[in-house]
Amino acid sequence: MARIMIGVAWPYANGPIHLGHVAGSLLPPDIFSRFHRLKGNDVLMVSGSDQHGTPITVTAEAEGVDPQEIATRYHDINSKAIEDLGIEFDLFFHTHHPAHTEVVQDLFTTLLEKHHIYEKNMMAPYCPSCTRFLPDRYVEGDCPHCKSDGARGDQCDDCGKPLDAEELVDARCKFCGSEPQMKKTNHFFLRLSAFEEPLKDFISDKDHWRSNTINFTRNWLENGLHDRAITRDMTWGIPIPLPGYDDKRIYVWFDAVTGYLSTSKEWARRKGTPDAWKDFWEDLDCRHYYFLGKDNIPFHTIIWPAMLMGYGGLNLPYDVPANEFLRLKGQQFSKSRGVSIALPDVLRTYDPDLIRYYLTANMPEGRDADFTWEGFVRRCNEELTNSSGNLVHRILTFTKKNYGSIPPPGTPGQDELETEESIRNTFCQVEHYLEGCEFKKAMKTIMELAGVGNRYFVKKQPWAQIKTDREGCATTLHTCLRLIQAMGVMINPFLPGASERLWKMLGNENTIKEAGWEAGLAPLPVGQPLDDPVPLFKVLEIPEEGDDPSKEGLKDSKDSKEESKTNKHTDPNTKKAGSSPALEDDPAGFPLDLRVGTVTSLKDHPNADKLWVLEVDLGTETRTLVAGLKPYYDPEALKGNQIVIVTNLAPAKLRGVESMGMMLAADDGKGVVSFLKPSKAVPNGTTVSPEGQVIDIPDAPLDFKRFLKVQMMVQEEEGKHTILFGENKMIAGVEVAGDGKSPKGVLITLDRPIPSGSSVR
Ligand code: MF3
Ligand code: ZN
Repeated sequence: MARIMIGVAWPYANGPIHLGHVAGSLLPPDIFSRFHRLKGNDVLMVSGSDQHGTPITVTAEAEGVDPQEIATRYHDINSKAIEDLGIEFDLFFHTHHPAHTEVVQDLFTTLLEKHHIYEKNMMAPYCPSCTRFLPDRYVEGDCPHCKSDGARGDQCDDCGKPLDAEELVDARCKFCGSEPQMKKTNHFFLRLSAFEEPLKDFISDKDHWRSNTINFTRNWLENGLHDRAITRDMTWGIPIPLPGYDDKRIYVWFDAVTGYLSTSKEWARRKGTPDAWKDFWEDLDCRHYYFLGKDNIPFHTIIWPAMLMGYGGLNLPYDVPANEFLRLKGQQFSKSRGVSIALPDVLRTYDPDLIRYYLTANMPEGRDADFTWEGFVRRCNEELTNSSGNLVHRILTFTKKNYGSIPPPGTPGQDELETEESIRNTFCQVEHYLEGCEFKKAMKTIMELAGVGNRYFVKKQPWAQIKTDREGCATTLHTCLRLIQAMGVMINPFLPGASERLWKMLGNENTIKEAGWEAGLAPLPVGQPLDDPVPLFKVLEIPEEGDDPSKEGLKDSKDSKEESKTNKHTDPNTKKAGSSPALEDDPAGFPLDLRVGTVTSLKDHPNADKLWVLEVDLGTETRTLVAGLKPYYDPEALKGNQIVIVTNLAPAKLRGVESMGMMLAADDGKGVVSFLKPSKAVPNGTTVSPEGQVIDIPDAPLDFKRFLKVQMMVQEEEGKHTILFGENKMIAGVEVAGDGKSPKGVLITLDRPIPSGSSVR
């Protein structure tokens, strides 16, 4: 058993946590700690609200209230949001607390006694009209290096150079705009310069650090370390534990980083084992991981390690996985600049697992990432609901209906052995990625296993197999259940709610948390009755352009959240409560009015880079539609072709252009897209009717949500592509029929090869 301490950057308590915090520093450690706890490792994960410093006082001043009020308000709001998102801290503490103060002051006093802290006079910017010393970031002016006019007293964001406030040209006070003066004051300094060599030594074996972390740190060290003032002229914060310094406080960064230690101590005290923190801080085998956004790197790779070295006897960071930034509309998330989506708002509307999914799949790991609502809805629908969720649901409903319990493995054939190997390889790979804090890759690898499952399921055709070979069908389903058992465990650290629901549907009495990581590959309990399957996720509605659904609240997704909440707490006797009707019980038949048409013209969309505006000849009429195929097709390759369109969708405005239908294409999720077309030319307007399906086209235009429920998937056999259509009922192949004139035996196929299992939209 390994021991692991996880520190998570402390969010300032001056506003609600936003999605940038979640993707940057909160979600990664939660995935990491859940994984290690599943492995049976001893984990301590701590953080808390950073309640001191100018971010709090400035907010308080703006509202005309006490800093204390702001600090408490947002600590409460953020603690709740963190809990609601399923982030599990051993303790989420806060800095305005006597237990924390005691540890910070002890650190200060010890470092002072050991001469790592000394007192010195200095010149600091002072605003005569505000009659106060100005914190570095509240002095603004022109950068002396690049001349940019938005530089602050700590650094210039344009050229990235660190600055001193007195270097700024045309300096101004950020509060009132007047010119600051330099005024004498005295402060305590951390003798950082003395730690240059020990720190170089410390990072010399950190080859496992991410490149952003190690490069940044090396750069800092190479530029030479300067002693840093660790006190400030202000009255909100932790007092200096010496007489005569009433109008000074300990610098918020010195205060906040010490929170990792104070919280560990407080956790041990609350548990009733006051020395338990030592197992994590003094045992040299315990590895310390710190998760944070890139702007916090030097505080965790230089200043905090120097403080710890100076203090002595405590573990230093082992890894500092820093993330890049999540951006919104091209800008870094920032509450103060109004570029933000608050976590509590999003949680009011969406299932936490969906937020966790998108922010993992789109994590700013290694590079910045963009948050878009469209991306959120699309990736949840396509990757989670359509690919994984539907696979799980199809397997479970089919097995439950035909066998009732987990069927025996029988005799595995080549396909089963290959699938089993994919499961094991995936498991091993995902474990490796998680250990190395590569969360995005881990998630992608799990999702690829869903693709393997889809292809296997389609290839074996259990719905046909059951009629002729019940034993073989049992083998197929057993193999499928192996795959979803492994998936269930692997996604547990990412999507704790959905994975536990899945685990229950497999008929397990315990939880994944109890069963542990290795349960993912354990032999299936043959004969164990399956629970009634309920879809894992509900399809989300695409938000209108410019909408922020966290503000408006989408009706359907709200339902979905309530439902998933109900499911989470379903007790075995009332399992049906809160479940939506299973898709296969849906009485409606195939609801799409599909027609063949010819693309007669094709233009760039006026407001969107990736879209085209098409004119499609449907025989009796011409329709305008918007299609997102531009990144995948040469316009010439599309023009003049016959395609398949859904004609009975409710018209939708896409970036200002009304689309009167939807062109169908398959997407393998990895960049290959291929449009649907008839295998031979047919008259425009010919109806496409999936063979063997009850066609039940509703009178009213079809809403998009209903459309997304219709399953359409590519099946490839010996190089021949067909489409499986249907609502949980798989149909092998499609015939074009309808107007009586079309040649029989025409199939709907694809413009270019694409793997089996690719979904059609
Ligand atoms: N409150 C700081 C920020 O949001 C982060 C503090 S991290 C700690 O940038 F380590 F100092 F706690
Ligand atoms: Zn001023």
